[in-house]
Amino acid sequence: MILPINLGEQSYDIVIERGALDKIGSYLNLNRKVLILTDSGVPKEYSEKVLSFCKEGYIYTIPQGEKSKCFDNYRDILGFMVEKAFTRTDCVVCVGGGVCGDLGGFVAASYMRGIDFYNVPTTLLSQVDSSIGGKVAIDFQGVKNIIGAFYQPKKVVIDSDTLKTLDKRQVSAGLCEAIKMACTCDKELFEKIESSQDLERDIDEIIARSLKIKGDVVEKDPKEKGLRKVLNFGHTIGHAVESQGDYLHGESVSIGMLKMCSQEVKTRLEGVLKKYSLPTKMEYDASVLADFIKKDKKARGEYITVIYVQRVGEFEMRDILIDDIKKYLN
Ligand SMILES: NC(=O)c1ccc[n+]([C@@H]2O[C@H](COP(=O)([O-])OP(=O)(O)OC[C@H]3O[C@@H](n4cnc5c(N)ncnc54)[C@H](O)[C@@H]3O)[C@@H](O)[C@H]2O)c1
Repeated sequence: MILPINLGEQSYDIVIERGALDKIGSYLNLNRKVLILTDSGVPKEYSEKVLSFCKEGYIYTIPQGEKSKCFDNYRDILGFMVEKAFTRTDCVVCVGGGVCGDLGGFVAASYMRGIDFYNVPTTLLSQVDSSIGGKVAIDFQGVKNIIGAFYQPKKVVIDSDTLKTLDKRQVSAGLCEAIKMACTCDKELFEKIESSQDLERDIDEIIARSLKIKGDVVEKDPKEKGLRKVLNFGHTIGHAVESQGDYLHGESVSIGMLKMCSQEVKTRLEGVLKKYSLPTKMEYDASVLADFIKKDKKARGEYITVIYVQRVGEFEMRDILIDDIKKYLN
């Protein structure tokens, strides 16, 4: 299936197809120099498959993990491209999760003022969320995504067969972002995830519907001036939870979402999160989390916008005083 993202000159297609990796050359223009960015945890066969279709391809492997989304790797990859004489008509293909997509996208955004890049996401989080929308970034001086750009891929190819090698915990963490989108915008998708008897069978539909929601939001608000904030449901508290170090991103968002909804939604959310082994409770010190949020958001003013879900499939944006976040944490 092809899902178009309409952004004027920056429009692109998302291909969602099992087995697409085996014919990736028919979807991407690889008849040029290609930097294939992957990480050490992504099975080699995926990047090697892409390489087999390239006229002149180079696999560049970074260590797995968030720490790799850093300035040193950014600089080294650019250095490698200069050394290999990449030109403005060459391209980057990101094969991996959000770490490869965010870093590789930012490399592409800045090399020679911007060259083509393609996303071939291989984690569920990147397939339902991070591979589209054009937010590319690196972490810097301990702050997540602080240096980056809005830069759209030329195409995104999603082959859910790649999820077969992904750790179950990572699958659940990725599913959390789909639950987030369903909970705020698509009651039927929420019901689908809630009642699914076979996630592997249903996954392409879940990916497609999640991307449709994100795509619609991105088309209306590509640079996060308003509506796009809905994608941050559960993330204000989620980021604070994540900073404590015990949980993956999606697991932290699970805790965050439960703090930003009515009792009726909370009951259903808890059920669905438990079903997919996502956490619903965490022992925490509300003051520590509130302090993290204040520090994180203070630069943007006294107020923050949080997304609140009163009924599944609907959301409201609430502008609250940062100091009031503690009320939601308690
Ligand atoms: N740009 C955006 O809009 C956006 C949105 C959400 C999150 N993000 C970013 O995404 C990143 C998290 O992405 P992620 O959850 O995909 O994590 P990740 O990229 O770190 O991947 C998770 C792990 O899975 C491994 N892996 C990847 N594909 C695999 C496969 N098919 N089989 C086996 N192992 C595989 C990786 O090696 C890694 O160890 C964060 O940096 C976050 O900031 C970006």
